[in-house]
Amino acid sequence: MPLDIDFVRRQFPAFQSAALQGQAFFENAGGSYTCKPVIDRLFRFYHDRKVQPYAPYEASQLGGAEMDEARARLAAMMGVERDELSFGPSTSANTFVLANAVRQWLRGKKAAIVVTNQDHEANSGVWRRLADEGIEVREWRIDPQTGHLDPAALAPLLEDGRVKLVCFPHCSNVVAEINPVAEICAMAHAAGAFTCVDGVSYAPHGFPDMAALGADVYLFSAYKTYGPHQGIMVIRRKFGETLPNQAHFFNGGTLYKRFTPAGPDHAQVAACAGMADYIDAIYTHHHGEAAHATPLARNNAVHALMRAHEEEVLQPLLDHLAARNDLRLIGPRQAAGRAPTVAVALDRPAEPVAAALAAHGIMAGGGDFYAVRPLEALGVDLSRGVLRLSFVHYTTAAEVQKLMGALDRVL
Ligand SMILES: Cc1ncc(COP(=O)(O)O)c(C=O)c1O
Repeated sequence: MPLDIDFVRRQFPAFQSAALQGQAFFENAGGSYTCKPVIDRLFRFYHDRKVQPYAPYEASQLGGAEMDEARARLAAMMGVERDELSFGPSTSANTFVLANAVRQWLRGKKAAIVVTNQDHEANSGVWRRLADEGIEVREWRIDPQTGHLDPAALAPLLEDGRVKLVCFPHCSNVVAEINPVAEICAMAHAAGAFTCVDGVSYAPHGFPDMAALGADVYLFSAYKTYGPHQGIMVIRRKFGETLPNQAHFFNGGTLYKRFTPAGPDHAQVAACAGMADYIDAIYTHHHGEAAHATPLARNNAVHALMRAHEEEVLQPLLDHLAARNDLRLIGPRQAAGRAPTVAVALDRPAEPVAAALAAHGIMAGGGDFYAVRPLEALGVDLSRGVLRLSFVHYTTAAEVQKLMGALDRVL
C-alpha cells in the first residue's frame, strides 16, 4: 500500500497555515515542519503541566509521566531499552559531551579514533580535537569526485587494533548517500572499536532499528524529525557504562542521565512523545490497529512507507538535474541509495539562487550547511556553496514538479 500523502499532510498544521500557502518547502534537511501531536503536547505542557516535574502533586506527576512516556516510546520504536535513550539540547551538544567522555576514557592509552570527511561538523570537530590529548585521529576519506565513503578504505585504518571508536554519518547532509551502517559497525566491532553514527540527516526518512544497524551511539535531532528542538542520543549500555559519567556525580548510575549534564527542557522532552503518536497514526491508518504490532515493527513499517514514497518522488528530480550541464549534482543519481537531500554546485553563489527560487514559491537554501569538510574534499568553491533542495515523505510529486519548473526559470 502506498503512503497516503493526504492523510500525512493533514497531520501537519503548516500545510493548512494561510501564511504558508503557495510555498513548497525544500529546506527540510535544515528542519522539518512539526507534526500536530507534538504541537498539541507542547501547548498542553505549557498550559497545564509547566511545573517542576516528578513532585508529588498532580500537574507535576503528569508532566514527569509524559517525559518518561516520550523516552520509553521512542526507545521502544527503535528497539532499545528506555534508559539507552537520552535527550540533550542538540546533536552538537550531545557529541560535545560524548567527546569529553571519550577524551577522559582514552587519555594516555595510545589509542586512535576514526573520523570521516563526509560528516557535518557536529560529528567531526569535537572528535578531531581529541588529538590535543595525544589520541591519534585517523581520517576516513571520501572519493573526491562522488563523495562516496568506501568501507574498503576503512579496513586499513582498523588493521593495527588501536582504534577504539569509529565516527561516521548514516548519510551526509550534502552527499546524501546512505552508508552501509550495519556493515561498517560490524567491521569496527571486529577490530575492537565502538561506533558513533550521526543519524541527523537520515532519521527524518525513517527512525532506526538499532539492533539491525548495530551502532553503539546513534544521534539525531528531533527538530528535523517532526518534533521540537531537541537532540536525541541512543547509547547502548555497554559503551555508555564504559565511558565516564559527565553528569552530576549522584546521577551517574542512571544511563540516560550520564551524558546530559544540563537540566533538560521538560516541555520539549514531553512533546517528543508526539513523534511516536505520529508514527503510530501513520501505521494505524495504513495497516490497522497499532496494538497488533510491536513499536519496532510499526516503526519499520512506517519507515518503509516513507522511503517508498520519497524514492518515487525523488527520481524525477535527480534525472532532471543530471540532464543539465550547467550544474554539478552531488551524490548518487539513483533515489534508492540516497536521502532526498539534493545538493548542487552551481557556476555562481548558491544563496542568491535560493532567494530567486523564493520568488517562485520555493523555500530552499544555499551555503555550506556546516558541511565545510565534505564540500572542500569535493572541490566545491566554498564562497559559492551549494544549493540544497531537501524534502521528506510529506512532499508531493506536484511540489517537486513545481521545483523543477522554478529551477528551469531561475538557473
Ligand atoms: C548531518 C547533521 N549532523 C548534525 C547536525 C547538528 O545538529 P544540531 O543542530 O542538533 O546540533 C546537523 C544539523 O544540521 C546535521 O545536518
